[in-house]
This record gives sequence, structure tokens and C-alpha cells, in this order.
Amino acid sequence: MSTAISPTAYNYKVVRQFAIMTVVWGILGMGLGVFIASQLVWPQLNLDLPWTSFGRLRPLHTNLVIFAFGGCALFGTSYYVVQRTCQTRLISDSMAAFTFWGWQAVIVGALITLPMGFTTTKEYAELEWPLAILLAIVWVTYALVFFGTIVKRKTKHIYVGNWFYGAFIVVTAMLHIVNHISLPVSLFKSYSAYAGATDAMIQWWYGHNAVGFFLTTGFLGMMYYFVPKQAERPIYSYRLSIVHFWALITLYIWAGPHHLHYTALPDWAQSLGMVMSIILLAPSWGGMINGMMTLSGAWHKLRTDPILRFLVVSLAFYGMSTFEGPMMAIKTVNSLSHYTDWTIGHVHAGALGWVAMISIGAVYHMIPKLYGRQQMHSIGLINAHFWLATIGTVLYIASMWVNGITQGLMWRAINDDGTLTYSFVEALQASHPGFIVRALGGAFFASGMLLMAYNVYRTVRAANPVEAEEATKIVVVGAH
Ligand code: HEM
Ligand code: HEM
Repeated sequence: MSTAISPTAYNYKVVRQFAIMTVVWGILGMGLGVFIASQLVWPQLNLDLPWTSFGRLRPLHTNLVIFAFGGCALFGTSYYVVQRTCQTRLISDSMAAFTFWGWQAVIVGALITLPMGFTTTKEYAELEWPLAILLAIVWVTYALVFFGTIVKRKTKHIYVGNWFYGAFIVVTAMLHIVNHISLPVSLFKSYSAYAGATDAMIQWWYGHNAVGFFLTTGFLGMMYYFVPKQAERPIYSYRLSIVHFWALITLYIWAGPHHLHYTALPDWAQSLGMVMSIILLAPSWGGMINGMMTLSGAWHKLRTDPILRFLVVSLAFYGMSTFEGPMMAIKTVNSLSHYTDWTIGHVHAGALGWVAMISIGAVYHMIPKLYGRQQMHSIGLINAHFWLATIGTVLYIASMWVNGITQGLMWRAINDDGTLTYSFVEALQASHPGFIVRALGGAFFASGMLLMAYNVYRTVRAANPVEAEEATKIVVVGAH
């Protein structure tokens, strides 16, 4: 084994930019989450204005947390991982910079247009056609940078984390482009090219795979790099990771119809979606176990390393939400859970517990390395953040389970004469305490993000430019 400092350096500039913006958008998106959660407790917070109404701010929340916070985490970590595992610089600095600024422009576009009421009305695909086209151009450029870097790699193998990132990039492009095919009638209004049940099917093929490929596969790429790195152990089973990859991507794509149970969608398609969702439990848990078992022999590190705790707890929530999801996909269970807060609880078990926690762990891991520091400014603050995030997530999920099951049971309760036992308003009143607990849990989670911002700020400020420059040097380990 020989170790040599290569004359070339990694492009950390774009990684740093995305990492910082992950924290910034995280605060805004989650802060807005707390605000809309509070609107459900105190409706006066709608302020009687169209721009600040729940209906318009809700999609802004989902866009900010999924695409701004989650998206920046995915861009930043994928650029970091692909360079380090391929031991080469990104193929083009200018294209990488374009993806950063282009992505921020799309988000700012969302910040302006969604509160104004411009929307396609398709969930998670609300942005109107000019922004959707910009997004597609940025995404294709991202694909060129990522795969171009893989092509010029200095290593023989393509590390499994890159397989997951690669699938996430390719499938997201496919979903976005197909679901957005529409006819523009003015600058900010377009109509979908599909109609009726077909439109619904395409939308939930998109919607579910946005969950599967954006909110899951990309973050699994993150998991496969950052869990072994932070635990300082090799991944438990490389073979399992390959089986995990192929099983996950071949199964996810079929599960969309579980969002359309008991609708005009043909019954066979609903049943197919249900069966595929149940089978999906296997690869999901295979991945979770592979991540968890990577800690074999390193469990003691959890006592002292809050970053590792973020990563491991995220896997636990991943396991939990991918158990809950297949259960909710069973038609009889879905007849109770659909339209209720149970779905919202499931969403945030995945979103806060899995997506946000793994991103937070990855950013804490990267920041000192990107700026040539030994570690984050304060480990104590990371620990405090960990507990705020964990308690916040548990409060959120538990309150939504209670609310969801209460709502489902109250809506279906009937008297002997066939009339409804409860009015809708009664179910809403019963949900009120749960809404308060959810807002509180969200506030816990969001305040943890403020600690993170301070910690990141202090770490970055303490960096000196020479060390930061030195950190970008490509250290080639072993002769290839
Ligand atoms: C402080 C943290 C957060 C709070 C307080 C919060 C709050 C909320 C609220 C109140 C809703 C609307 C629920 C309803 O319509 O009844 C919502 C929806 C949603 N949020 Fe969050 N959220 C937070 C973080 C996140 C994060 C980090 C993500 C994703 C990474 C996320 C993804 C979503 C999604 C996908 C929906 C739509 C769910 C659906 O339509 O079924 N949220 N959130
Ligand atoms: C094996 C894995 C999973 C399966 C089979 C699954 C299944 C389901 C089911 C059946 C629903 C309810 C559909 C409805 O009644 O409308 C749902 C909703 C949802 N799930 Fe999952 N889930 C899984 C994992 C995840 C994960 C890991 C996340 C987040 C990271 C997630 C995010 C969501 C979102 C955002 C929705 C709400 C969609 C909407 O109506 O707006 N799911 N999922």
C-alpha cells in the first residue's frame, strides 16, 4: 500500500455551498412546518390572507423540506461521496456551480409562486411549467456531472453508495419529466396531458417513487457511505448491499397504486400495488439491517458519538416507517388510515426520523472535513440536537397515531339506524390535543436545527483558509 498526495484537489466549494444551504433550508422548511402545524391548532394564524393560508403554505412546506432541505443534502453528499470514492475531482466545476445556483433559483421560484397560488395542483409536483423546465435542465446537468465523474474515476469499482445515488438521479429525471408533460395556457397555468384515472395513476406513480427514489434511494446512498465512515467499520455485507439495490429498485416502481385504494383505478392495479408494497418490506429491511450490522463491534461508540447516534437512529426510523408503510398498503388497513393523521404520522416518521436525521448526521460528519477541522465546534451541542430531534420525532409520530386512529374510528362509527355516530366537527375536536402535541414536537425538532446552525457557523468561522485548502487534496490510497 502506498500513500501519495495527488496534485489535484476535490471540488469542495460546491459541497460546502450545498451543505450550508441544507441547514438554512432545513430551518426555513421546518419553521414553516411548525407554523402550519400551529395553524391547525389556532386557525387565526391563517391571518385571513390568501398568501398565508394553510392551503398555500402547506405545499410550500413540502417543497422546502423535500426539495430544498432534502435536495441540498442529496446534492452536497453525492458530490462529496462520488469524488472521494472515485478519488477524482468532479468532471466540471462550472456545471456543478450551475446545479447549485439553478437549484437555489428553483427553490426561490417556489417561495414566490406557491404563496401566490400558482400550482399545477399535483402533490409534490406543484411547480408550474417554467420552473419545472428549469428544474429538468438542472437535473440533467446534475446527471452529467455525477455520471461523468464516475466515468473518469481512478478506482476500479463503483462503490455501492454511488449505485444508489445514480438510481435516484436517473429515476427522478424520468418521474419528473413524465409527470410534468402538460399543455401551458399562460405563463403560470398549464393543464396535465393526462386525464381522469390515468392522470391519477401517473401522479401517484410519480408521488410514490418520489418517496422511493428521492426520499429513500438517495438517502440510502448517503447511508452506505456515512454509516461505515462514522463507525469506522466496513459495511456489514457488500453482497447484501447489491441484492438490496436491485431488489429495491425493481420493486418500488410498482407500489404507487396503494395511494389510490378504493378509487376509480382498476381493482387489479390496486391489488398489484398492495402486493408489491408488502414485498417491499424485504429489501427495505435488508438495507436497514445492513446499515445496523455495520456497527457490529462498534456499538460502544454510540455512547460517546452523537453523530453516529443520528445515523443509527435514522436507520431505526427507516425500519419503522418501512414496516408501517406495507401495513398501511393493505386495503383493509388503508380503509381506516386513509385521509387521517395516521398518514401524516407515517410521512414524518420517514421524513423526520429517517430523511432529516440521516442528513443531519451526514452534514455533521462532512462539515469539519470540508473545512480542514478535526471536529465540530461543540459535541455537546450535537448531543443536545440529537435529543431534541429524537423527542420531537416521537412526539410528532405518537400524536398522529392517536389522532389518526381516533379519526378513522369516529368517521366509520354508525348507529343502529345507519346514521353517523359522530359529526366531522366532533372528530376534529377530538384531534385538537394531538395537534398541540404535534406542534410542540415540531418545535423541538426545529429548535435543534438552530443549534446546528450555530455549531456549523462556529466550526466554519474557526477554519483557516490554508487548512481548508489542504483538506481538498486528493489522497490516493493504494496503487490502482
Ligand atoms: C419541524 C418539523 C416539521 C413539522 C412541524 C411539520 C409539519 C407538517 C404539517 C402540519 C403538515 C400538514 C399536515 C396536514 O395536512 O394535516 C405537514 C405535511 C408534510 N410534511 Fe412536514 N413537518 C415537519 C418536517 C418535515 C420534513 C423534514 C419533511 C420531509 C423531509 C416533511 C414532509 C412533509 C410531507 C411530505 C407532508 C405532506 C404529507 C401528506 O400529504 O400526506 N415535513 N408537515
Ligand atoms: C416499504 C416502504 C413504504 C411503503 C410500502 C409505504 C406505503 C405507504 C402508504 C400505504 C401510504 C398511504 C397512502 C394513502 O392512504 O394515501 C403512504 C403514504 C406516504 N408515505 Fe409511505 N411507505 C413506505 C415508506 C415510506 C418512507 C420511508 C417515506 C419517507 C421517507 C414515506 C413517505 C410517504 C409519504 C410522503 C406519504 C404521503 C403521500 C401523500 O398522500 O401525500 N413512505 N406510504
